[in-house]
Amino acid sequence: MAETKKLYVKTYGCQMNVYDSERMAGALAPSGYEQTDSPDDADMILLNTCHIREKAAEKVYSELGRMRSLKDAKPDLKIGVTGCVAQAEGEEIIRRQPLVDLVVGPQAYHRLPAMEAKVRQGARAIDTEFPEEDKFDYLPRARGPKASRAPAAFLTVQEGCDKFCAFCVVPYTRGAEVSRPAARIMAEARDLVERGVAEITLLGQNVNAYHGEGLNGADWSLARLVQELAGIEGLERIRYTTSHPNDMTEDLYAAHAEIDKLMPYLHLPVQSGSDPILKAMNRRHTAEQYLRVLDRMRAARPDMAISGDFIVGFPGETDADFKATLRLCEEVRYASAFSFKYSARPGTPAADRPTIPDDVASARLAELQDMLTRHQREFQQAQVGKTLPVLFEKPGREPGQMIGKSPYLQSVFVTAAPEARGKILPVEITASAPNSLAGRLA
Ligand code: 5AD
Ligand code: SF4
Repeated sequence: MAETKKLYVKTYGCQMNVYDSERMAGALAPSGYEQTDSPDDADMILLNTCHIREKAAEKVYSELGRMRSLKDAKPDLKIGVTGCVAQAEGEEIIRRQPLVDLVVGPQAYHRLPAMEAKVRQGARAIDTEFPEEDKFDYLPRARGPKASRAPAAFLTVQEGCDKFCAFCVVPYTRGAEVSRPAARIMAEARDLVERGVAEITLLGQNVNAYHGEGLNGADWSLARLVQELAGIEGLERIRYTTSHPNDMTEDLYAAHAEIDKLMPYLHLPVQSGSDPILKAMNRRHTAEQYLRVLDRMRAARPDMAISGDFIVGFPGETDADFKATLRLCEEVRYASAFSFKYSARPGTPAADRPTIPDDVASARLAELQDMLTRHQREFQQAQVGKTLPVLFEKPGREPGQMIGKSPYLQSVFVTAAPEARGKILPVEITASAPNSLAGRLA
């Protein structure tokens, strides 16, 4: 074993990046790296970046600027950029930022140890290829002490996207859609459960399009995979994200009706409620088709909490188009939702289209967010008086307080002993706030 060095990983963007960061730390452990929470004592800093919106990418460059003083103080410090900005702008980062020693895209993370060895010799390294092999086969999981393992974990089952929505960088940064074989996923899930994990969220950019090799050699759907995972003793909760309306299948509705461990929460982005805009976005579904998917879901699981993503101010969006989005939200009544102002991304089909005035887009975003917040409050308020099973995850800020998650992914604050961590206990909900609930052990 080499001498111990410190690794600081800063994660931006989606949950898949959170998962990848953990795997990168695992990959560098055999090279002698231990993770640290502070960039100041790091020997290597990795910025695991997001390219989804303009602001996300800008943050990376300003963060890199701030790292100059760290490198001045410690010339041996190595700085790497990983993730989707690395994939999209790798060459430019190397050119623009002499501070950066290493650039590696999401599909080449298993080559990180070799690259680390190279940069230790003083070279700079860049790898933004899309190799054939499953990188996760070569990326050991970080193996911290069991006691520090959070009771909820992410597990990537599908990556990439073939849908090419007109606004989106993901098909370019994450590549073509690939599903991991069920055997690997099952082994990883069992390993997580052995280390105290009670809840697993299956990740994929189009997770409900999962079609990996099953344990019997045939192609398995997401629902079939969930069914197999539900058989793992000790695994109490299963979630999945993000889904696409066009990939919703009969067996997934049925799974929600039949499998208790599958949680009643569905993140199903629609982006707009206007058919002409959906068409311009190349979503390949109408507002009506989206609503019918939700009907089917709610028929299978009446208490299903629905979450969504919205883009306002897409090129060509008129007042009437925007009103259609508001109408759709009124109808769905989202339990939670994320909304963004359109941001032109280089290389995407919509990037060259004439944009609408920024003040119009901002006003629409504010109006939409007002409505979404109101609906979210209503959903939160509707839990008061109910008794919900809560998975306790970590201590709260107040002494004697623990924070857990409801089946609907709400944070719940409860007075409870630290031993509650990792357990699912019934909690009577006593109060609601926009982003959390309070309750007492029932
Ligand atoms: N501009 C604004 N928002 C975007 N998203 C994706 N691409 C863009 C873009 N170019 C949003 C979508 C997606 C979420 C992850 O980010 O709503 O569902
Ligand atoms: Fe951001 Fe998309 Fe990359 Fe996730 S996959 S980090 S959301 S660009």
